[in-house]
Amino acid sequence: MARLVIFLLLTVFSISLAAARTDFDESNPIRSVTDRIDSLESSLLAVLGRTREALHFARFAKRYGKRYESVEEIKLRFGIFAESLELIRSTNKKGLSYKLGINRFADLSWEEFRGSRLGAPQNCSATLKGNHRLTDTVLPVTKDWREDGIISQVKDQRHCGSCWTFSTTGALEAAYTQATGKPILLSEQQLVDCAYGYNNFGCNGGLPSQAFQYIKYNGGLDTEESYPYTGVNGICSFKPETVGVKVLDSVNITMGAEDELKHAVGVVRPVSVAFQVIKEFRLYKAGVFSSETCGNAPTDVNHAVLAVGYGVENGVPYWLIKNSWGADWGLDGYFKMELGKNMCGVATCSSYPIIAA
Ligand SMILES: *[C@@H]1O[C@H](CO)[C@@H](O)[C@H](O)[C@H]1NC(C)=O
Ligand SMILES: *[C@@H]1O[C@H](CO)[C@@H](O)[C@H](O)[C@H]1NC(C)=O
Repeated sequence: MARLVIFLLLTVFSISLAAARTDFDESNPIRSVTDRIDSLESSLLAVLGRTREALHFARFAKRYGKRYESVEEIKLRFGIFAESLELIRSTNKKGLSYKLGINRFADLSWEEFRGSRLGAPQNCSATLKGNHRLTDTVLPVTKDWREDGIISQVKDQRHCGSCWTFSTTGALEAAYTQATGKPILLSEQQLVDCAYGYNNFGCNGGLPSQAFQYIKYNGGLDTEESYPYTGVNGICSFKPETVGVKVLDSVNITMGAEDELKHAVGVVRPVSVAFQVIKEFRLYKAGVFSSETCGNAPTDVNHAVLAVGYGVENGVPYWLIKNSWGADWGLDGYFKMELGKNMCGVATCSSYPIIAA
């Protein structure tokens, strides 16, 4: 026991976490990756004590490959993690239609999360009057465009408020595969770097409808491979010879008209939507998200995503939505949002592209 304690103290104070990760590689080449991860866990527990929450935190840090550089940072992150645990516990015991859970964002404060992942709210007044045409077609009772094989993989926007570019590429990738039967991945970075003239602001936010306009008037959107994602604002280097898709137009859904949105998602194709992310949403795990505190005004919405279907779960109708926070967030990268109340503004700012295929 005494030897173990001394070992833990040594790990923390003389080697330090950062050194444990890098120097061990050089000086102890036979040490396995598992040993290093176990020493991360031991180091955290040595700082925090072996409480239940600290053990939970150590498992979390291991699972998400967290790197904390100092004892102060470990304490700070553990404090935020404990607050997240409390928010999860208090929310989940209310018996709501959704559940929260620990995910990779659990050691980030809401302010940090908002600053690094969400754009500033955008004014989407252009959709005050939409141009989507309703038809007599009977809508499917439930819809999931993934079953049609036209939805591309879930991506990760990382530390950049570029959600609107992922919503845009997600919509265009689906439209392209729907039209041609072929898969494609398209460039978010081109939109981050080049779409400024259309009221878009790179990592500081933008709107899919405005991105469709940019693509329409600027020769198309490059493939992901030819213009890869960096997650920081860069200099525009659009290459006309590697364009993957061209846009003829964008169809805007009238603000708040969920019947139009449902018609479009049900019979046309996936639709870019926006909504207001609130504090607890970042820890969404499963079920149909619903809230009494989020807003639905055009200036409330702060996150753009892609509606790929709808359905009903335990009597609650929902939109099925593809997010851009990685495939290990929520329901394999997706979530469900209550349908029928313009919940969190999900129908406030929606549009879908018409492509030249
Ligand atoms: C949003 O845009 C409309 C029309 O362009 C404008 O009248 C309104 O003041 C804008 N609101 C904000 C908050 O920018
Ligand atoms: C759709 O929205 C975009 C951007 O907000 C706007 O430029 C475009 O004119 C709108 N389309 C129609 C047909 O109203």
